[in-house]
Amino acid sequence: MKFEEHVELQSPKLKNDNIYLRPTRLSDYDAVKAYRQNIDNCRYIRPPDTDEEVYRIVGELSKSWKLTQGVWNGLAICLTDDDTAVGEIVFRVEDWQHQRAELGYRLSDTVAGKGVCTQAADLLISYLFHEIGFFKVSAKCDPRNIASYKVMEKLGFKREAFFKGHYLMGNEWTDQYDYGLLASEWKNK
Ligand SMILES: CC(C)(COP(=O)(O)OP(=O)(O)OC[C@H]1O[C@@H](n2cnc3c(N)ncnc32)[C@H](O)[C@@H]1OP(=O)(O)O)[C@@H](O)C(=O)NCCC(=O)NCCS
Repeated sequence: MKFEEHVELQSPKLKNDNIYLRPTRLSDYDAVKAYRQNIDNCRYIRPPDTDEEVYRIVGELSKSWKLTQGVWNGLAICLTDDDTAVGEIVFRVEDWQHQRAELGYRLSDTVAGKGVCTQAADLLISYLFHEIGFFKVSAKCDPRNIASYKVMEKLGFKREAFFKGHYLMGNEWTDQYDYGLLASEWKNK
């Protein structure tokens, strides 16, 4: 790892020809609320967040990054010609000693199915491997969330585990796929 544990980092701006990732701001509240309170969007994650939860989450994601195990760090996803947040891409240190990060993402339905999430994940993963120095990135999803694991598979993640009845989503016990990607396998290495 290129940094000390618990260090705070200024969250970066990352871009390609179609999208950019920028630090989240409190002014993203309405945009984030729109997808975090959309029933379909939340279907395989957890019940929709309340207004207060959205406010708290936007506040957390607006902070500088912290390399402390369990703390989620995020970037807002924007299309090149529009500064409106159309989603979020996040990571946390899953295990500091073993240099492993966990990735997460959510996108507004207005831009889903166009490869935006795959591009956003591509940008962040490159940063996590090259600029921070993680050895491995993991990602988890409900096995019914095909779009989510397709994103992982398009990026080269391998399915490593299937857990039955692994987490409680609202009132529903839910299975889980775990995916993993090693820095040594990353296409841009
Ligand atoms: C999951 C999510 C982030 C994917 O974002 P996205 O920008 O639509 O993803 P992409 O377009 O990059 O890739 C999705 C892939 O899944 C495929 N896909 C989507 N639904 C599918 C289905 N029901 N069956 C088969 N393939 C499907 C798409 O065709 C696409 O693959 P392709 O590029 O080979 O055609 C987005 O749908 C979302 O935010 N969902 C709600 C929140 C969520 O579930 N987050 C993940 C939690 S683990």
